[in-house]
Amino acid sequence: MHLAMAPYTIFMFTLLTFLLSFHGIDANVVKYNVYHIAENHPGGIKFTKLIGIPYTKQLMGKINNYLWSTIFQQNTDADRKIVESVDLYLKDFKGAEGITWWSSRINVSVVYLDGYQGDLKWEFTSLMYHEMTHVFQWNGEGKAPVGLTEGIADYTILKANYFPPAFAKPGSGDKWDQGYDFTARFLEYCDSLVPNFVAKLNKRIRKTFDVSFFKELTGKPVEQLWKDYKAKYAGKN
Ligand SMILES: *[C@@H]1O[C@H](CO)[C@@H](O)[C@H](O)[C@H]1NC(C)=O
Ligand SMILES: [Zn+2]
Repeated sequence: MHLAMAPYTIFMFTLLTFLLSFHGIDANVVKYNVYHIAENHPGGIKFTKLIGIPYTKQLMGKINNYLWSTIFQQNTDADRKIVESVDLYLKDFKGAEGITWWSSRINVSVVYLDGYQGDLKWEFTSLMYHEMTHVFQWNGEGKAPVGLTEGIADYTILKANYFPPAFAKPGSGDKWDQGYDFTARFLEYCDSLVPNFVAKLNKRIRKTFDVSFFKELTGKPVEQLWKDYKAKYAGKN
């Protein structure tokens, strides 16, 4: 009886697992769209030649999964920001390398790509780690300091090992919310005190921001953390 039942049980189990996993994938699906609207610009031509749309779409998926699994550690849909699609525009504009707007749209400047000296695919990949973080991070419904959200975006490129040689060294900077690479290094320090600090802080700033969250998570107010951080690297940078 037991033996006779086994194949049926295995079949049902397999079917159930398949249906559940299918449902899981379905619920999580994010579309990645790339609109190359500057194809004739010299930087647009470089994009097509050295990077391309297929690589970019695949990269967006890879970064998305990296953000969920590693940076933010959001394993369920309930933890994640609902994003139906990420739309990337390669566009002729000046003043920034890239900009994330309306929560899930990214504009990358072909003027910037054109002027970049070095490995363009590497640089574009690094920029995408930064901009994609903006798409998927929480920002306290707008209350988190910009220096912090920019710091988290650069923390991603630090962790992903896509940071440039000029990236801030540990211990540099004047204040915790200075932004970008300076704040990224400070967050790295916070991580050394409390494992997965950035993932925890991101979770905490879903609906609002308060500087006391640093104390909640580490036991120390942010100003004290900053002093300890500077003291740790005193004389080194
Ligand atoms: C990004 O580019 C799109 C497409 O040209 C444009 O509609 C949008 O206004 C741009 N966003 C920003 C913030 O510049
Ligand atoms: Zn940014």
